[in-house]
Amino acid sequence: MAKIKLFSRIYQKIMKVACYFIKWPKPFVIEGTNSSLEIVNVIKENKLQRPLIIVDPFIDQIGLMKHTLDSLDQNNIKYIKNIDVKSEPNVLMIEDIVSIYKESNCDSIIAVGGGSIIDTAKLVGARVTNPNKSISKMKGVLKVRKQIPFTITIPTTSGSGSECTVAAVVKDGHSKYAVNSPKLVPNVAVLDPMFTISLPVSLTLTTGMDALTHAIECYIGNSNTKTTYQDSIEAISLILNSLESLLANTQDVEKRLQMQKASYLAGAAFTRGYVGYVHSIAHALGAYYNIPHGEANAVLLPLVLEKYKEKIKNKMLKLVDKLDESNLPNEEKLSLFYSKIKSLSLKVKKSIGFTKIDSKDYQELIKHIQKETWPLYPVPRYLEDSELIDIFEKVKENA
Ligand SMILES: [Fe+2]
Repeated sequence: MAKIKLFSRIYQKIMKVACYFIKWPKPFVIEGTNSSLEIVNVIKENKLQRPLIIVDPFIDQIGLMKHTLDSLDQNNIKYIKNIDVKSEPNVLMIEDIVSIYKESNCDSIIAVGGGSIIDTAKLVGARVTNPNKSISKMKGVLKVRKQIPFTITIPTTSGSGSECTVAAVVKDGHSKYAVNSPKLVPNVAVLDPMFTISLPVSLTLTTGMDALTHAIECYIGNSNTKTTYQDSIEAISLILNSLESLLANTQDVEKRLQMQKASYLAGAAFTRGYVGYVHSIAHALGAYYNIPHGEANAVLLPLVLEKYKEKIKNKMLKLVDKLDESNLPNEEKLSLFYSKIKSLSLKVKKSIGFTKIDSKDYQELIKHIQKETWPLYPVPRYLEDSELIDIFEKVKENA
């Protein structure tokens, strides 16, 4: 164990230095409720002739795309619309969409949906520009050689941050893995609150908690830069100032936009500064018991922070001092911060998956969690197996 920990820390230090030499592209951001015209302008400026629109069928069905499609029609932009997309990207589906892209002579992609749709678009793009490399060969870090085609993303949830991250997760047979490369970063991210206005309370909460987890796990990690610190702090501030009131009034356009910005900033932060144990535990619980990602993160976040509490205390005191400008002592601000996270976490309705967490699976779960965490995630402290078991037990409580 001591050897693995030492190796992991050396690996993270090397990666941190290596990351300074990598070009980290950021998408151009279109922000606000009049996005259709700006999308058309971007298409014209970049001389794009035939975008392939990959859209979540539900979003298409409820008419959220209408303004954008009307604007494209009025400007004589001949697009191809593909709504035949599953909730989770898989290799076969991606190959089918690649065929449509090629047969229709498309030259760009517009992805409209949550993190899974945007991940699908990134991987379709990767296969289009790297035709001789299968997705399985792109698995891991820096394996995509050529930049994806011009890609515009319109996120319809505020959580994954996929519109600006280097990653895309894909299911391949029975396994699920991530492709990570700066070549996957889309060209444009459209943060238009009208695309998230129909998101129900439950998804607003769980996707928002996913974004909050990205920002906090990045902030407390050991691989930050000045920019990732700034982005994560701003994301945390925006979420804590908007999520709760948005749950009370989901039609609040201004708060919707704040959550979109937060999700984007959190994505920009963690794509360089990584996540941590909340994510590795959530991924294991997702794989074993189909517990949705945002839901698992929301439940796990306060439990994991409790384990780190002493280790991250100074960092957290600095954070709350920046977030809260009142005259309260920082210790008090910190305890209010933790209470707020707990209260948001308690609002999440636990799905049936939580009741299925079985002590017989503990060792396998631990194996997966530690394998994902070491050596990649620069967590503040490595958790012992017994601490992970303690977290499983707490997750099961009142499930
Ligand atoms: Fe996440």
